[in-house]
Amino acid sequence: KKVRLIRVPFWLGGGKAGTDLGPEYIVKAGLMRKLRAMDIEVEDEIEVDCPVQPLLTGAPARIKYLPEVLEMSGLVGEQVYRAAARDSFPLILGGDHSVAIGSLAGLTAHYENLGVIWFDAHGDLNTEETTPSGNMHGMALAIAIGKSNFKLTDIPGAGSLIKKENIVIIGARELDPGERELIRSEGIACFSMHEIDRLGIAAVIEKALEIAGNGTDGIHVSFDLDCLDPREAAGVGTPVPGGLNYREAHFALELLSESKRVTSMDIVEVNPLLDYDRRTATLAVELATSLLGKRIL
Ligand code: ARG
Ligand code: MN
Ligand code: MN
Ligand code: MN
Repeated sequence: KKVRLIRVPFWLGGGKAGTDLGPEYIVKAGLMRKLRAMDIEVEDEIEVDCPVQPLLTGAPARIKYLPEVLEMSGLVGEQVYRAAARDSFPLILGGDHSVAIGSLAGLTAHYENLGVIWFDAHGDLNTEETTPSGNMHGMALAIAIGKSNFKLTDIPGAGSLIKKENIVIIGARELDPGERELIRSEGIACFSMHEIDRLGIAAVIEKALEIAGNGTDGIHVSFDLDCLDPREAAGVGTPVPGGLNYREAHFALELLSESKRVTSMDIVEVNPLLDYDRRTATLAVELATSLLGKRIL
């Protein structure tokens, strides 16, 4: 198995500095060594040259750093597309969750019909009208399915929009009113912590694979570390109590790995500045290895 590491040191989509250090700390936590120990060939390691300092313009925009997110997404998309086109598994290290807009731009250029499994405490389904913060990481999924004014298809090189029928949110526990409304009106599959408590994570993953795998030629896993409980993953920008525990998260990714359907992954929202003892970066490495085939026995 070949993996292409794509590092995206970007924080402007989350509005809080620190996630730009995510890729560096995840690599420092031993990602390459662990992947090689699993006999995975890490083809190459690319760092996307992200905009760092926002351009100082006049009045602050309500949607923050849109030009910078657009630029980053185009650059990420190019690299992700290149990896997918040569049958290498794109492993994208964020960065805040707006990085996924870039991943999806690149993946939709290669896959005809892409399924998406979105692990998150949040819905990331806000539009320009409903966003309470103006931070684009909270809009990434709405952009992907074309519910916002700014759409995935506005990124140069992107393919078509993601079909709402092929996306699944797992781990949600903090949805804004507009997001709840969109989930209801569009019939988006959302397994909140309530459904995980009720059904168990194994059944949820089984259903998620049916939805994201239905008529699709690839499945992207977008993994926001804040899907985990803050006791496990403290180093994230927007922690919410009551999340997945350590084994639920691993078991979910082990099951996805067993399915052999997953074709790419984002690991986002690791913020080393808010972390305790580099634990969240270390956790990110362990979770990536579970998705890429590590087994206990
Ligand atoms: N729903 C909130 C917002 O729109 C928080 C989003 C957090 N997103 C994330 N990817 N961590 O601002
Ligand atoms: Mn291919
Ligand atoms: Mn997110
Ligand atoms: Mn989140």
